[in-house]
Amino acid sequence: MRIQIINGPNLNLLGIREPEIYGKRAWEDYLKELRARFPKVRIDYFQSNLEGELINKIHEVGFDRDGIILNAGAYTHTSIAILDALKSVSTPTVEVHISNVYQREDFRRRSIISPGCVGFIGGFGLDSYRLAVEALIDNAARAKAE
Ligand code: DQA
Repeated sequence: MRIQIINGPNLNLLGIREPEIYGKRAWEDYLKELRARFPKVRIDYFQSNLEGELINKIHEVGFDRDGIILNAGAYTHTSIAILDALKSVSTPTVEVHISNVYQREDFRRRSIISPGCVGFIGGFGLDSYRLAVEALIDNAARAKAE
């Protein structure tokens, strides 16, 4: 099984950026733990602050992975282009957020990309990514059984 994590803008600063919201843990440290927890799953990782690069990555991996975990950062709330990219590929995508976007500013309550995703996980800190891996494993098992 092969899963692609894609993190969008400002998520390269995890551990430093607004730690009261996003936590103090460095991403690389968390990713190491995540990979160790799922030894049978290959977890690839990509981060970019640029919308077009996120779209190119979705196109690149969108036909041959078992799942994409996408935290599109603020592009979640603005990007029709990312929504269109998700709709253009066949790999199921889980939308992930570290914070509970519904407890925050009004503009974060609207996700433009959700209609292109199989599901949504948010509000559990970095553990949201682990929950998304679990969801994609179950999703793949279900698809195989059908
Ligand atoms: C975020 C929530 C977004 O609203 C914000 O712009 C981010 C991070 C999250 O993981 O909680 O950059 O996607």
